[in-house]
Amino acid sequence: MPLPLLVALATYTSHARASPPIWPSPKLDALESARFDQFGFNAGIMPGFIQPCDSFLFADDTGRSNAADWIRTAYHDMATHSTTDGTGGLDASIRLDVEMDRTENAGDGFRNTFIIVSGATNRYFGVADALALAAVIAIENCGGPEIAYRGGRIDAIEANAPGVPEPQQDLRSHIASFARQGFTQTEMISLVACGRVSLHSFGGVQHDPFPNIVNELNDPANTDDVAHFDTTFVHFDNNVATEYISGTTQNPLVAGFNDTTNSDKRIFGSDGNVTMSSLADSPSLFASTCAELFARMIDTVPSDVQLTDVITPLPVKPDNVELTMVNDTIRLSGQVRLWNTDQASAGTVGMLWDDHLGGQGNTSLAFAGTASSTGGKYNSVWYGFNAVNPFGFIGLDATAGIERLRFVVNGKLEDQEGVGFEVQDAYMFSLTSCLYSLNGGEDPLRLDVVVRSFFPQGGTSLFRTAGILYFRSISA
Ligand SMILES: *[C@@H]1O[C@H](CO)[C@@H](O)[C@H](O)[C@H]1NC(C)=O
Ligand SMILES: *[C@@H]1O[C@H](CO)[C@@H](O)[C@H](O)[C@H]1NC(C)=O
Ligand SMILES: *[C@@H]1O[C@H](CO)[C@@H](O)[C@H](O)[C@H]1NC(C)=O
Ligand SMILES: *[C@@H]1O[C@H](CO)[C@@H](O)[C@H](O)[C@H]1NC(C)=O
Repeated sequence: MPLPLLVALATYTSHARASPPIWPSPKLDALESARFDQFGFNAGIMPGFIQPCDSFLFADDTGRSNAADWIRTAYHDMATHSTTDGTGGLDASIRLDVEMDRTENAGDGFRNTFIIVSGATNRYFGVADALALAAVIAIENCGGPEIAYRGGRIDAIEANAPGVPEPQQDLRSHIASFARQGFTQTEMISLVACGRVSLHSFGGVQHDPFPNIVNELNDPANTDDVAHFDTTFVHFDNNVATEYISGTTQNPLVAGFNDTTNSDKRIFGSDGNVTMSSLADSPSLFASTCAELFARMIDTVPSDVQLTDVITPLPVKPDNVELTMVNDTIRLSGQVRLWNTDQASAGTVGMLWDDHLGGQGNTSLAFAGTASSTGGKYNSVWYGFNAVNPFGFIGLDATAGIERLRFVVNGKLEDQEGVGFEVQDAYMFSLTSCLYSLNGGEDPLRLDVVVRSFFPQGGTSLFRTAGILYFRSISA
């Protein structure tokens, strides 16, 4: 029977891909940027909405936060997963009205979340990947642990079966619900605690959608009547566990006036407080447990979805690399990011490039800006492709073109172990492209595209094989 051998082989190869991806890998590069370019130069759009962590975009209300809504949305979206039939999971199905409007998804936090998160997508990843990332960014930047993030989720086009646990349900239902999602009872206790702690910083239970759980608070600092899960509002720590064990918790799902909806009390106590005691005893165990379970949560996807490897930062990463044809010159612009370093350590940064004719060029690069990520854990520094102006360009001979870049950082060659950073110049836009008005009508966009020809034309000169031709296309 050769089958078991094949299965073993397939398993082996899928775990053997350990080396970081080679740039360019457009999808992975886009996910890497969204995941790691959080604040500062070239930052993505989502992190600004959780800076500071109690930021709330949607009203003057106090006591609510975007961060809480994002994490809650990620959990509710995932909670439809069924390990039995492989359906449901983190696929952004909750953005669809049929699912969002269910009573198990009470409140306006889901709609608010997608107003921001949907804007963070691009041609390489969709809403589900952006939602998973929103939860990661919120947790990491509000004092929580670093979380392994993968991409590759597929946006659902239909609602999943219902399945989000609700506070009025009994313990047996909760254990069964988490088991269906793929979590043991111990994991359920921890994940709920982790969810509360991340939500505590940034949220709690709101009166409006949950009048049976939270009374009106009549607190001017909390106009949305949000009962918080513990006392350290806006910082991720294990207080949700210590306060629970010491009996001082204000968690509205433990100490609420209505015992029917005290679901956290039933869940936390369901193993005789063993798990909650260990989480209360050790902030570091709490952090590592939450990191693992949050990663499991966002990786819970429909069974036909294949996630990427964990996205890791590229140590040297070109970005926004653009070639533009201007008369007989190619303009090369872009920036390079040096990960986890600063300007002083980076020293002098240079760039070399190879052309199609065996030639080489080089320039020093201008400092463009700094950036940070993962709650300030990592810093990076950016340089632009020009010796003086970080937003400038380098003029290249059009015939010679360009094949690849290499960088020299503080005297050290960075070229992906000899591969270089490949740049394609087979086609590019011409600067003659334009957007123009016709008699007050709509503005047509004319894109002039330059295509490199590799066909010999007359055969007298090697240079002539790289002729340039233009064509125009007009689109609305
Ligand atoms: C307690 O919660 C349950 C479930 O939501 C509800 O049916 C009941 O009316 C609530 N009791 C009070 C006193 O609010
Ligand atoms: C768990 O701890 C809380 C707070 O100390 C206590 O009120 C509760 O009775 C304990 N539950 C169990 C099952 O031991
Ligand atoms: C391109 O060439 C034209 C004609 O020689 C000239 O007028 C124009 O300034 C050039 N454009 C640039 C950006 O150099
Ligand atoms: C950079 O270019 C200059 C000429 O412009 C050349 O003299 C020098 O050797 C080049 N440096 C490298 C590292 O290729």
